[in-house]
Amino acid sequence: MPVTRIRTPEADVLRRQDPELADILLGESERQASTLQLIAAENFTSPAVLAALGSPLANKYAEGYPAARHHGGCEIVDVAERIAIDRARSLFGAEHANVQPHSGSSAVLAAYAALLRPGDTVLALGLPHGGHLTHGSPANFSGRWFDFVGYGVDAETGLIDHDQVRTLARTHRPKAIVCGSIAYPRHLDYAFFREVADETGAYLIADAAHPIGLVAGGAAPSPVPYADIVCATTHKVLRGPRGGMILCGAELAERVDRAVFPFTQGGAQMHTIAAKAVAFGEAATPDYRAYTHQVVANAKVLAAGLAAEGLVVTTGGTDTHLITADPSPLGVDGRTARGRLAAAGLVLDCCALPHGETRGLRLGTAALTTQGMGEEEMAYVAGLLARVLRADTQQGRAEARELAGRFPPYPD
Ligand SMILES: Cc1ncc(COP(=O)(O)O)c(C=O)c1O
Repeated sequence: MPVTRIRTPEADVLRRQDPELADILLGESERQASTLQLIAAENFTSPAVLAALGSPLANKYAEGYPAARHHGGCEIVDVAERIAIDRARSLFGAEHANVQPHSGSSAVLAAYAALLRPGDTVLALGLPHGGHLTHGSPANFSGRWFDFVGYGVDAETGLIDHDQVRTLARTHRPKAIVCGSIAYPRHLDYAFFREVADETGAYLIADAAHPIGLVAGGAAPSPVPYADIVCATTHKVLRGPRGGMILCGAELAERVDRAVFPFTQGGAQMHTIAAKAVAFGEAATPDYRAYTHQVVANAKVLAAGLAAEGLVVTTGGTDTHLITADPSPLGVDGRTARGRLAAAGLVLDCCALPHGETRGLRLGTAALTTQGMGEEEMAYVAGLLARVLRADTQQGRAEARELAGRFPPYPD
């Protein structure tokens, strides 16, 4: 694919040395800029975050923690990690932050390592109902090493069945309860989960990978006052580099730190940690606050538009950046719909529909909102998506390209 439109100094260096890879870098930039990114877990990081990621900090080995490293020469990267920790603590009002997890899954692994032993019982949202792989999938370490019991969502409303959570907790007496999801579009009632955990003697782990970016901007309730440990990713609405983090109270700080290093990870990735610090700094600004509220406003309009077009929107709408919907009333299942939409330049995911027979669609508004799109564009995207599903792929591709072209993710 010949790509000439996007040029950056980094790409020019790469082009001189390795044109094959340069084409891939530019091709991906072009793909991101010319299609509509509706994947709920994705976003566009700022140029400052990208600069930290592509910096010489990538060269540094730094096992351990600031002032207690197994490698020499860490005095400068130590400062970067301290800044990232301080900014995360202040942004989320947490007593302790660990910014080293390489990903959301690594953060969950470390949380389990801090609190559980192999064979312990854990209560979490079942996978067909929106639980993540790390919440007990047999294909994942979690399902192999722990005894997971799954709660679910109500067949009628799509909302978490709180009665079932309480009953299962009383019956199974789990060592930990996990709240968090890859596909739940509503706010979680953290106070409820805390109450059940206290009643049954369980730890509460909030896997806030999805909503944490909204929490940072005040657009979603925070799990920090309620959960023993909060796990999160830094690359979704939060708009940082791909990575994870853990927040907890002072009493668990040492256990969490030791669970990350040396128990589950080796050297910290200092370029990513610096990029996390940059993203936390950005997330503390009024602009970011406004952004998160716009993300939610956009998602509400998109959800309403999809419902008006005949898709069945789970729970009837959303409180967050995330929507799941069943496209089958338009005569197409989720998997076919995803392919048809991708061909038209609308990029999104399939997801399980808890009580449905086919798969549904999962989409989010974080990336489009970063590009500057608002409610008017969301209403347009809902109509465009439905028209593509009704078979107008070619015209749809032209419209998606035109819309994306008006809102470049990296205008400068
Ligand atoms: C709830 C939840 N937990 C964990 C993860 C894992 O994050 P990662 O892909 O960075 O490992 C995700 C990713 O989407 C998630 O949504």
